[in-house]
Amino acid sequence: MTEKQRKILLTSALPYANGAIHIGHMLEFIQTDIWARFQRAQGHECYFAWADDAHGTPIMLSAQQAGISPQELIDQMNEEHQSDFRDFGLSYDNYSSTHSPANRELVEAIYLQLREGGYIDKKTISQFYDEQEGMFLPDRFIRGTCPKCRTEDQYGDSCEACGSTYAPTELIEPRSAVSGTAPVMRESEHFFVRLADFQDRLHAWINNGRMQKEVVNKIDEWFTDGLRDWDITRDAPYFGFEIPGTTDKFFYVWVDAPVGYMASFRELCEKRGLEFDDWWGPESEAEVYHFIGKDIMYFHTLFWPAMLMGAGYRTPTAVYAHGFLTVDGTKMSKSRGTFIMARTYLDHLNPDYLRYYFCAKLGPGTGDIDLNLDDFVQRVNSDLVGKVVNIASRCAGFIQRYFEGALSEELPEPELYARFAAGREGIAADFESRNYQAAIRSIMALADEANRYIDEHKPWQLIKQEGMETEVQAICTQGINLFRVLITLLAPAIPHTAQKAAAFLAAEVGPWADLDHPLLGRAINTFEPLMARVDPVKVDAMIEASRESLKPSGQETPAPLDLADEIGIEDFLKVDLRIARILSAEAIPEADKLLKLTLDLGQETRTVFAGIKSAYDPDQLSGRLTVMVANLKPRKMRFGVSEGMVLAAGPGGTELYLLSPDDGAIPGTRVT
Ligand code: 2FM
Ligand code: ZN
Repeated sequence: MTEKQRKILLTSALPYANGAIHIGHMLEFIQTDIWARFQRAQGHECYFAWADDAHGTPIMLSAQQAGISPQELIDQMNEEHQSDFRDFGLSYDNYSSTHSPANRELVEAIYLQLREGGYIDKKTISQFYDEQEGMFLPDRFIRGTCPKCRTEDQYGDSCEACGSTYAPTELIEPRSAVSGTAPVMRESEHFFVRLADFQDRLHAWINNGRMQKEVVNKIDEWFTDGLRDWDITRDAPYFGFEIPGTTDKFFYVWVDAPVGYMASFRELCEKRGLEFDDWWGPESEAEVYHFIGKDIMYFHTLFWPAMLMGAGYRTPTAVYAHGFLTVDGTKMSKSRGTFIMARTYLDHLNPDYLRYYFCAKLGPGTGDIDLNLDDFVQRVNSDLVGKVVNIASRCAGFIQRYFEGALSEELPEPELYARFAAGREGIAADFESRNYQAAIRSIMALADEANRYIDEHKPWQLIKQEGMETEVQAICTQGINLFRVLITLLAPAIPHTAQKAAAFLAAEVGPWADLDHPLLGRAINTFEPLMARVDPVKVDAMIEASRESLKPSGQETPAPLDLADEIGIEDFLKVDLRIARILSAEAIPEADKLLKLTLDLGQETRTVFAGIKSAYDPDQLSGRLTVMVANLKPRKMRFGVSEGMVLAAGPGGTELYLLSPDDGAIPGTRVT
């Protein structure tokens, strides 16, 4: 364990300043924090610099709606976010905001360097403009009828019903989601970064051997499609930084957001007397890693490194993408009570439970992670309480009662201790490669071994035999030292529990190098329970507290149903509804909403593209029965031909419910 001290800078994606933190966010923040704590425990100089992502149209409009200034909104949210983060034990070194003087200065400097380097073009573009509000409309703020399937009230860039993507100008009857009025087209001059100029350098950077293969593959697809110029301009009114030399033009939020990583670190440099250029300068030997969700890879692997290259900074060592969080196998859902806010979790449960569970599930890849609530209860109780904490509680009482808290001078089985301590190397390699689940498996195997040691030596029997006291003290000293190894290895995942363990051991629990020497011939403190079992009643209460009732409250008159035009039975009978069994479901990576379903209709199979990706994990769907429109004319879509339509209800997003007949219904039979 004599590795050279490394300089490591970590970041998590910057959360938007207009929404509260939920456990989906926490997956990434916990992943980053475990890595930061792990690296510090190896003795490396490791910082975690972070901030709120404060700019953009949604934040400006949220502030307007709340009747406060954007500054007030972002200040409030910053406080709220940080209170969640502190209570979850996130060990960031600096938390800033992208709306900071340090960020403005860096963003302007980077822009000017890009401009001087000749990487920026000016072009006049036409966009939808809301005359009533006096603002250009981002695609997400335009609604209208889908040009492909004619579903009403779809976003300006894609349809939730059929999954097609299109330009906002293709929408039928477009209207502004801000004022409800019909927008007009208006021209404006915008600045574009010519990304293609960086293609060769980006290609070399991506193939530096440090990136995940899924990330490299994805970027290769983008290269094949060709890199388009990147529009970095937004017109006023916009909450952001004004572009130098212009009036009423602002930097697009995705320009200043990643620069926020640097700006937060620059603030830290000022606080701690660090040399900024040692970390971000072109000759830097430090390592810089960005932990992100796989949905924002494009920004971090193309735009951001291109900006750094063009402005003469170093590029990140790697960008580590993770998958999404599902709860009980499906997307988090407000009506199911699984859209759990960080604060709601903290109101009910110990943060170390979730930190441990995420750690035990996270691997190095970009696959989705499922929080299965039954498994969560079972796993935390059996691993942490039943195995790890149990070792300490089984030994501590004897040491206190019979030996006034004193550990023996020697270990009865030093080789066993040495083997535990030697386990560090493999476990460190797993943490280093972000294979946390493998690290946890090895730690739990050691915990089983430690429990076996105590079971075999039975201190509770020995203490009853005369003259065996010294033996008991030695066995319990051995047990407590094995516990110390385990809690030290687990500390990056469960820092609150490790802190309590440190109080019990009367010794710091942190640097892994400390495990070179066992604790001997010294006093420990009275054992206080380090962790209570997860109470399933509290998990239920958390779900209840997260459940958003869809029923109107007693006071309100329910709105009348907005029914379609009346039809006769003969019209209804034209729709041929059939029972279908889902044979397989797969996500279409390029489409936000679409799953490709293969359906069994008894005598034939059909391929149907369904816009239900945001509500269902494809793995959970195979084998399930549903109802489909079987005589719908086949529709050619971007990803293939859709031969029908499955029926689902709900407002959209995670709130979509696939219709299912009772078990026993036979695929292919007609629904009447
Ligand atoms: O997707 C998001 O939530 C963004 N706020 C992440 C920004 S990360 C970085 F680039 F700042
Ligand atoms: Zn559509």
